[in-house]
Amino acid sequence: MLVLENLHRIVTCAPPGVSGPLLGERMGDLAPVDGDLSVAVREGRVAFVGARANLPAEFKSAPRHDCRGLLLTPALIDCHTHPAFVRSRADEFELRLAGASYEQIAAQGGGILSSMKAVRESSDAELLNATRRNLQRLRDHGVAVAEGKSGYGLNLEHELRQLRAIRDAGQSLDMHTIRTCLAAHSFPPEFRGDDARREAYVAEVCNNILPAAAQGGLAQRADVFCEQGVFTVPQATAVAHAARRHGLRVTVHAEQLCAFGGAAMAAGVGADSADHLEFADAATMAAMQAAGTSAVLLPGSTYHLRMNQWADGRAMINAGLCVALSTDFNPGSSPIPNPCFIMNLAVMRCGLTPAQALCAFTRNAAHALRLDTAQWGLIAVGARAAFALWDVAHERELAYYAGANLCAGVIKCQGWRS
Ligand code: NIG
Ligand code: FE
Repeated sequence: MLVLENLHRIVTCAPPGVSGPLLGERMGDLAPVDGDLSVAVREGRVAFVGARANLPAEFKSAPRHDCRGLLLTPALIDCHTHPAFVRSRADEFELRLAGASYEQIAAQGGGILSSMKAVRESSDAELLNATRRNLQRLRDHGVAVAEGKSGYGLNLEHELRQLRAIRDAGQSLDMHTIRTCLAAHSFPPEFRGDDARREAYVAEVCNNILPAAAQGGLAQRADVFCEQGVFTVPQATAVAHAARRHGLRVTVHAEQLCAFGGAAMAAGVGADSADHLEFADAATMAAMQAAGTSAVLLPGSTYHLRMNQWADGRAMINAGLCVALSTDFNPGSSPIPNPCFIMNLAVMRCGLTPAQALCAFTRNAAHALRLDTAQWGLIAVGARAAFALWDVAHERELAYYAGANLCAGVIKCQGWRS
């Protein structure tokens, strides 16, 4: 048992009578409460939220945690990250600053392939330590639940090593990880050259890598980079179907660099989410809405790649989509481990309000991962006891200060993950 006290404002993300993600008009309705407040936790779950004067008697002698008058929110959920990378790509960053494009660097064997090389050359200990450091950077900025993708192994052995590194690093940091096999992130050197080689890699992903990743729950999901010059819509569809056959849930990197049809494909296969969506049009949004496919916006990559086309988050909210936000933390397109900076980009460039941006990193991010929104991404009786404390007076400040680390700590109570 534990009681959090000395709280003056709690952002619950739990408006009464609403289940599931917060959609449309409701998305900014974060049900904050003010006063002299306490939160009580029993066996890893929230048992009480409200005025300190109303704390149930059974908690009167429980251990106390002094929250120093700071703002309390649910711990953040980062629903799209690539944390199993070994080294930075700041060298390529300088090339991009000098005028090279992300696609040009990739075509010359850099980009995802340079991260692949570093992963393949790393020892297990190096990979684990690097992944741990990367996840820790997210945790330092308020994240307790992180989705983590492979995708820098690009063969059976190294994709599985990445997934294990994410699992083990999360375990050691007491973070909850959702693991996604992104073997279909790029074509490895062994399978480049012509269409037949590329088809052979798709078959390798579908027939060998995904089934092995699904074994024993190492991965829960599969992802594919559906984009011009990477995986075609038919290839991405094949990956999605194979994933399903092996019990993996599906998400897609879609409409990032051009309008390519990946998000409509994601809707067509009933994917949990389509992510990026800079180039998603109204018809695509309607198809996603009809299919219940969430929209995960990653404006960190739009920013870091210096693109002019930002995802139209406001239109997606108006279209009734479950809109979530994530860092996309990765060494190529989004070396940004700070969710509040991403919230700032989302309000400056994607048309979200500060309240919507926080919802998109908590309750709606839980739904994008198909975590139960009665337990994850909110503060209410029965919810997982994982909280973030913020050194601000009001939640709107999270999206307002840009670049600072506003997180004063993540509080997780024993048993919160199980
Ligand atoms: O989400 N778009 C593809 N994948 C990543 C970038 C990965 C990389 O460049 O290493 C993304 O932007
Ligand atoms: Fe990504």
